[in-house]
Amino acid sequence: MQKRTLLIGISALAAAGCAAVASGPQAINWDKIPSTRVALFHPGQSSYQWLRSDAHKGAAKEVQRGDSCVSCHDDAQEEQMMGSKILKGKHPLEPETAALKGRKSHLDVQVQAAYDEKNAYLRFQWKADQPGTEHVYFRFDGKEWKKYGDTVWSKGVKEGKQPALYESRLSVMLDDGKVPGFAQQGCWQTCHNGMNDMPQQATAEEVAANPLLKATKKTDVRKFLPATRHDPSTWKSGKSVEEIAKQKDAGEFLDLMQWRGGRSAGIGMADDGYVLDSRESDAGKNMWAGNFDSKSKLPKFMWDEKKAGYKAIRAEQLHKAEHFLDPASNAVPFAADAGWKEGDLLPGNTISRSHAAGSAADNNAISTYKDGQWTLLLIRPLALANKDDKALKPGAVYNVGFAIHDGNIDGRGHFVSFAKTFGIGTKADIQALKLN
Ligand code: HEC
Repeated sequence: MQKRTLLIGISALAAAGCAAVASGPQAINWDKIPSTRVALFHPGQSSYQWLRSDAHKGAAKEVQRGDSCVSCHDDAQEEQMMGSKILKGKHPLEPETAALKGRKSHLDVQVQAAYDEKNAYLRFQWKADQPGTEHVYFRFDGKEWKKYGDTVWSKGVKEGKQPALYESRLSVMLDDGKVPGFAQQGCWQTCHNGMNDMPQQATAEEVAANPLLKATKKTDVRKFLPATRHDPSTWKSGKSVEEIAKQKDAGEFLDLMQWRGGRSAGIGMADDGYVLDSRESDAGKNMWAGNFDSKSKLPKFMWDEKKAGYKAIRAEQLHKAEHFLDPASNAVPFAADAGWKEGDLLPGNTISRSHAAGSAADNNAISTYKDGQWTLLLIRPLALANKDDKALKPGAVYNVGFAIHDGNIDGRGHFVSFAKTFGIGTKADIQALKLN
C-alpha cells in the first residue's frame, strides 16, 4: 500500500504541472536535516473559557493575563502526563471516556523542515495503527444506498449501528505574529465553549438567533479567534461583519492547513483554510465533493472497473488499500443498473485535483504509510499573495500549533501540541534549512 500511495502522490503532482516536483522534494536528503520531536496530547474539553476559570487550578489569572502554557506546563513528559490524566483519570475535562476507551492519550510527531526558491517543506512522521485513508461511505442494502461509517463517538457507532470509519488528519495552524496570544497559548485561542462537542454546545435555535452567525450563514459554532467577539468569554458576542472584514484585510487570522487521509492524501494534496470568526476554507474550491445526489438518493460516481479493477468495494476490503474515487482518473458516472449487490460500498466523497481551485488549492502533500508509520511531506508555496493566506518568507519566524486526528475520530478528539516556533532559514524550535 505504501508504494501505491507514494506513486499516486508523485504522479498527481506531475499531472498538475509541478515540473519541479520530480527533482524537488523527492531529492531532499532528510537524513541531513535536524528533526524535532513535538509532543501532542488529548486535550479533552480544555476550552478558552475553562482555562480562565477557577477549575484550572491556580492558573486562571495567569492565563487571562496572557502567560504561556509552557510557563507552567514545562515538564519533559508534560504532554504525556496531561493526556493520560484527562483521558484515563476520570477527569472533568473528558465526559466521553466510555467511547474513547483504549485509545492513546498522547502522540509524538517528528518534524523536519526545508525550503527552496519556491516552497517550504514540512515533513512529519508519526505512528498510526491504521492508515486512516478511509472516510465515510454509502452502502447498498439491496434496495437503497445508505450512509455507512461514522466517528467513534457518534450515536450510530455507540449504538453499534455503524462501523467506525473516518479519515485521519494532520493539521497545522500558523500565525505570523498578528494574532494576539497565539505565540503563548497556541491552538487554545481558537477552542471555545459552545462549539461542537464542547460544553454548552450551541443549539440550532441559538445559532439561528445569533446576528453574526446569521449574517455569515453558519449552522454551528466552529473555531474562532477571541478578537472577533466583543466579549471573548462567549461565542454569542460576535462583532459586525464589517469589523471582521477589516481584521481579515489586516491579516489578523490564522492559516489552517489540513492533510486529510481520505479527502486529500490520495491525490497528493492538503487543504487550505483559515480561522477568524469561524473556521473557513480559502477562496476557490476544495479537492473533495459529496458523492450523493440528494434528489435521486443515489451515488454520483462509481469506480471505473477497467481502471480500478472493481466498481465498488466490500467491507472486507476497507483499510487494505487506498480507495479514493477520482472522476479525473478512476471513476465513471454511477449507473443504477450496474448489477449492485447487497453490501457494495462507494465512497461518500469524490476527490480530485480537477475539483480544487483558487486559494483553496495551494498546498500539496506526498504521504506514505509504512510499517505503522506515516511520513508526510507538506509542500507550501512561499510568498502567497491571497488575502486568506499567510505568506511564508525566508528570514521570518512563525508560531505554529499541530493537531493529529487518528483512529476514526473528528472534532476535539485530536491530539494537540502547545505552540512552537517555525523559522524559515532562521533559528526556531523548527528550523527550515535552505536547499541548494
Ligand atoms: C500559572 C500556571 C499555569 C498556566 C499558565 C497554565 N496552566 Fe494549565 N494547569 C496548571 C495547573 C496547576 C493545573 C492543575 C494540575 C492538577 O490539577 O494537578 C493545570 C491543569 C491543566 C489541564 C488539565 C490536565 C492536568 O494536567 O491537570 C489542562 C488541559 C491545562 N492545564 C492546559 C493549559 C493550557 C492549554 C494552558 C495555556 C493556555 C495552561 N494550561 C496554562 C497550571 C497552569
